[in-house]
Amino acid sequence: MYYSRTGNTKKIAEAIASAVNVKAEAIDNKTTLSEPVDLLFIGGGIYWWNMDKTAKRFIETLDSSIVKNAVVFGTMGGLDKAIKDMINLLKEREINTKTESFSSKGKAWVFINKNHPNINDIEAAKVFAKNIVKSLI
Ligand SMILES: Cc1cc2nc3c(=O)[nH]c(=O)nc-3n(C[C@H](O)[C@H](O)[C@H](O)COP(=O)(O)O)c2cc1C
Repeated sequence: MYYSRTGNTKKIAEAIASAVNVKAEAIDNKTTLSEPVDLLFIGGGIYWWNMDKTAKRFIETLDSSIVKNAVVFGTMGGLDKAIKDMINLLKEREINTKTESFSSKGKAWVFINKNHPNINDIEAAKVFAKNIVKSLI
């Protein structure tokens, strides 16, 4: 599941989803999890030093009875703070959250991180996702 304003995190989410044979789902203001999951990949971008409040609200609906394990991914101009904040928020919810995460540069304002996520970022996301799943089996 992912929150993406400009499509970068969506690309990584879709790469992760295809690697583990599930569908990537966008988070909006009404998103909740209707049934328990063994492993949630959750991702988002960073906007003015913070995760988006839509992503935050969604995480605040979760707890360990509905999410057994969580892994965070994200894209950014340069700052991994949103990833750290997501991990901390999930841990505060007492969800078993991997300390490893996946991050990629994401293009912003035409000139920053041009062409990212690129094919290498996409491939790296797929490898990361497969390794996470292997580590939990
Ligand atoms: C309004 C806005 C604010 C941003 N603020 C930050 C920031 O504070 N730190 C950073 O590293 N990147 C920042 N970025 C870059 C985004 O995090 C980056 O483009 C990311 O890939 C966006 O993800 P998305 O395409 O999935 O929405 C910002 C981008 C936008 C559009």
